[in-house]
Amino acid sequence: MKYGNIREEELKNKVEQDFFGKFDCTEIIKNIDFAVKAPLNPPEGGKNSPPSGELEGAYLLWAEAKQKSTDILAMLAQLVLTIGKARTFDEILPPPFLGCYDNEKIAFVPYSEVQDIFYQNDFNWKVAPSDHETREFKQVYAQIENIIQATPWQTYIFDFEKDEKELKRFIRENFVVGKTETSLIQIDKNNFISIYNRWVEVVKPTIASDWDLAKKAGIIDGDFYLADLLSIENETIREKLHVLLKTKYYELDKKRLETGFFAINRVDFKDNQKAHTQFWNRYKRPPKEEYWGYIVDRRDLIVPQDVRERKGSFYTPRIWVELSQKYLADVFGEDWQDNYYVWDCAAGTGNLLVGLTNKNNIWASTLDKQDVDVMKDRIESGANLWEQQVFQFDFLNDNFLPISKGGKLPDELFDIISDENKRKRLIIYINPPYAEAGDSKQRTGTGKNKSGTTTENITYERYKKSIGKASNELFAQFLTRIYCEISNCLIANFSKLKNLQSSNFQSFRRLFMAKLEKTFLIPANTFDNVRGQFPIGFFIWNTSEKDFFEQIQADVFDKHGHFECKKRIFNYDTTKGLIGKWLAGFQDKKNISLGMINSGRNDFQNQNVVFIQNEILATSHALTVNITIENLIPVSIYFAVRKAIPATWLNDRDQFLYPNEGWETDEEFQNNCLTYTLFNNNISSKHGVNHWIPFTESEVGSKGKFDSHFMASFISGKIIQNGYSNLFEQEEDKFCIKREFSKEATSVFDAGRELWKYYHAAISSPFGGGREGAVNASLYDIREYFQGRNDKGTMNNKSDDEKYNELVENLRIALKILAKKIEPKVYEYGFLKK
Ligand SMILES: C[S@@+](CC[C@H](N)C(=O)[O-])C[C@H]1O[C@@H](n2cnc3c(N)ncnc32)[C@H](O)[C@@H]1O
Repeated sequence: MKYGNIREEELKNKVEQDFFGKFDCTEIIKNIDFAVKAPLNPPEGGKNSPPSGELEGAYLLWAEAKQKSTDILAMLAQLVLTIGKARTFDEILPPPFLGCYDNEKIAFVPYSEVQDIFYQNDFNWKVAPSDHETREFKQVYAQIENIIQATPWQTYIFDFEKDEKELKRFIRENFVVGKTETSLIQIDKNNFISIYNRWVEVVKPTIASDWDLAKKAGIIDGDFYLADLLSIENETIREKLHVLLKTKYYELDKKRLETGFFAINRVDFKDNQKAHTQFWNRYKRPPKEEYWGYIVDRRDLIVPQDVRERKGSFYTPRIWVELSQKYLADVFGEDWQDNYYVWDCAAGTGNLLVGLTNKNNIWASTLDKQDVDVMKDRIESGANLWEQQVFQFDFLNDNFLPISKGGKLPDELFDIISDENKRKRLIIYINPPYAEAGDSKQRTGTGKNKSGTTTENITYERYKKSIGKASNELFAQFLTRIYCEISNCLIANFSKLKNLQSSNFQSFRRLFMAKLEKTFLIPANTFDNVRGQFPIGFFIWNTSEKDFFEQIQADVFDKHGHFECKKRIFNYDTTKGLIGKWLAGFQDKKNISLGMINSGRNDFQNQNVVFIQNEILATSHALTVNITIENLIPVSIYFAVRKAIPATWLNDRDQFLYPNEGWETDEEFQNNCLTYTLFNNNISSKHGVNHWIPFTESEVGSKGKFDSHFMASFISGKIIQNGYSNLFEQEEDKFCIKREFSKEATSVFDAGRELWKYYHAAISSPFGGGREGAVNASLYDIREYFQGRNDKGTMNNKSDDEKYNELVENLRIALKILAKKIEPKVYEYGFLKK
């Protein structure tokens, strides 16, 4: 082994000296252990010297270093998490290689191979990169493993000692800067955004524009970047783009005047184009032709986030575009494109219409002129649309007036929407913008709405009374205007399920009476920028059939587009009420409190905020109920019902309901729920008398006396005379029953008892290795005792005590089996609908 047992710092110095001596390895960026840069002052005319200084200081390698022999995948995973957490690539152009080394070997992987990992949806980049136990670490580890397995020839591994010569040759050949053409950085669909971020820092300030004013006028810097990117020798090669680079300046918004002359807005550089030239000297422009379409199409990704969110500009992933067109064919027949007209009135760059064949019948309109230009540009490169049928139209503000009468709608489309029979063959096919008034309010954190939010448009004003709270949402405004003003048409739209289910949409549902023909559901986080785990649906509505939505059987697809199952979606307006109303009926402020339950709102997405602890602050937004001897059973039912079925993206918006009476006579169900609750709560003896110990002292080998025997008494129906049993005595007649437990519940008690016993054995022998602990400990206290807390005060996931881990795992397994037993009853007693 070349480096033996030396400290990490020393190892880094040696690796630098032995292999990267020519380079600059002095800078440590954003927690990356080892970074190799092109030398700042390469020897004049020397081998590998950059030609113009443009590549000086460019990074060539970012690497993770470990003092001792370590798994390469683990080192790379840690590096990826470090980079992703700091989003280093947003500020600094990433190097061609990522790498890792320990005292025996070094490995390199091209950055381009792993960069997709940084752009994945719904990934928690906040985790500590060095914690190899997190779900995120394991996920990245597996992703890198897959990448390396798929392209093993792209990973280079060298033993410092045995492969010294090869390693030196590899570095010589690959860590070459400024070798003209070949070393220019290629732009592709993955790095065009990080290069844009760099462009914003370097080039944008040198363009003579007042960007704030420009933004107000709907002009964004991203279009200047696109003009730069898609150019040869500083001439933009895509003529239809909104902004064009004309060698030494930009041109935008070309308009033919009545005189026949063109009026053009010209924008110059403030610095004689110096920064621009230096910046673009590093990249190969234009990118390969195969990426042009994608980059123009994904203009949405370089629209500033606030503008994008305000306009709800999120792109429909290609697999859902294709699936939606398959569903359209299922409902309207194979020849649907010949028999129906299609209008996408929130078309963006026209992505939803890709794959449609009969352009005579397709119209596409959208809010931003720039997006219209992109669609026209795409037509030039083969998109299947007619230019006259692509137009700018603000669907929430503009009048339905034909061009021939001074309006914006192509006359033929106007004719269709004005003709009762043609309207019945018009499909408004859209993925409408998602934005909600409340969103921006919360985002600014000021409590005030940002200007330009969803409520500043004519459609909102026109329908807010009729559709109530739903009017805060852009997609509801689209659906309402379509429904009311293009009556009897067909609608095929993507959206959340709120219009079917949310209580805020009750008025909307009473207005929007249409037959829902077919629906599929897909995970929301497959869409850009959606992080949450909830369903998004595609809906085909026939508005000429007046129907009040009650339920539909939807097809469900997983994130890869594979059919998963069927699921019934309900409108809950007609049910007896939600589960919260049922729980509220058991509020008890008279009897002694055993603890409190926080109810969370009524759906699965709030599962995590259903909990039991000694006290809950009055600031909780959800209903909280005092737990007492009187309501212990219904509260336990509430708790178990809310927790027994795992929350998933698919059930996320399912509502728990006011149940039927079946549960009242089902003692086994009641006791199953009680058991589930006893071994799942956050009661702690640190915050008051612990009434929740389900065992006696002798059962668990306690050396001290418990303060309360309430729970053991409640379970056995026998009063244990001491401590707080009086809590029980007062109600002796009513509650003095011996509870029978199912075999699943009994297994939970058995597993729990072993845990308590293990704890009491540990605290009884402080001199035999155990630490001191409370005799009255609850399950939560026992977990805290063994698992401990991290620096931030959060309880660790595991303990160092293997025996304890095993006992807890046994309890978890037993609880899972019990949960399965409870599950069918949740449906039988109407807590959930199936
Ligand atoms: C969810 S995106 C869909 C884009 C594209 N059709 C797709 O499916 O990928 C919604 C689009 O509606 C546009 N939009 C927002 N408000 C609009 C309005 N009032 N009228 C027309 N289009 C609007 C946005 O700019 C955005 O491009």
